[in-house]
Amino acid sequence: MTVLIESRQLAKSYRSASGVAEVLAPLDFTIDDGEFVALVGPSGCGKSTLLKMLAGLLPPSAGTLTIAGTPVVGPQKNIGVVFQSPLLLPSRNVLDNILLQAEMRGMADGAARAHAKALIDTAGLSGFEKHFPWQLSGGMQQRAAICRALLHDPRLLLMDEPFGALDAMTREKMNLELQRIWSGTQKTVVLITHSIAEALFLADRVMVMSARPGTICATYVVDLPRPRTLDVMATPAFSALAKSVRAHFYAEGTLDS
Ligand SMILES: Nc1ncnc2c1ncn2[C@@H]1O[C@H](COP(=O)(O)OP(=O)(O)OP(=O)(O)O)[C@@H](O)[C@H]1O
Ligand SMILES: [Mg+2]
Repeated sequence: MTVLIESRQLAKSYRSASGVAEVLAPLDFTIDDGEFVALVGPSGCGKSTLLKMLAGLLPPSAGTLTIAGTPVVGPQKNIGVVFQSPLLLPSRNVLDNILLQAEMRGMADGAARAHAKALIDTAGLSGFEKHFPWQLSGGMQQRAAICRALLHDPRLLLMDEPFGALDAMTREKMNLELQRIWSGTQKTVVLITHSIAEALFLADRVMVMSARPGTICATYVVDLPRPRTLDVMATPAFSALAKSVRAHFYAEGTLDS
């Protein structure tokens, strides 16, 4: 495996009127090319801050961050980002929302359309190309947002709580969908989630963060066979992993036992 992302003593503090607040303590980690990593941790521990630094949208206060050996010093081009809300333009249909990515990047229209159609198929949105966001369910909107994030075939997909607003059943469906999309494209994925089950279901590795200032207090390799079905969540191996991850939150007092 080749390393794609390398973080060395990466730290972040925010300055405010009341002084300097340390949000992320120095972090050391690597993520392999093609790996699916989930990041879990209590609210406010700096997960989104870390994701923004990976996207090059926020400068670190100390340390170094490299992607494919190149230091991250500004907004990254070879990435796709999915946020908690789909952020689709209401005046554009599904296809045109996805094609926004191509317009912003000056991609050739024909190739972009062909890729958009293929992604729409993969995401199970065929037949809804001409629908507007308000004509779609929350899960369908989020799938369109994922298609948009993948249109330029980025090497790295960053997702910040992409399914947080969905009901439990739609969320499980989206987890299956995301696994399918990921296994078909072999992207590197960093997924932030508050759901331990979602993290374990999807990831090759789960990084657990401590409360602010955030550190990576544990890493779990999720050695469950793929493709995974939802039934994997009922297996003893899955339960044991979930118990281990949950224990960090009990220890911190962010979950009651
Ligand atoms: N621009 C900013 N200026 C000052 N403080 C900030 C800024 N952005 C975030 N913070 C603080 O940094 C900490 C970490 O924020 P961040 O959004 O990274 O947390 P998070 O782990 O993503 O939380 P959540 O799970 O609730 O989304 C929080 O305490 C927040 O108040
Ligand atoms: Mg966040």
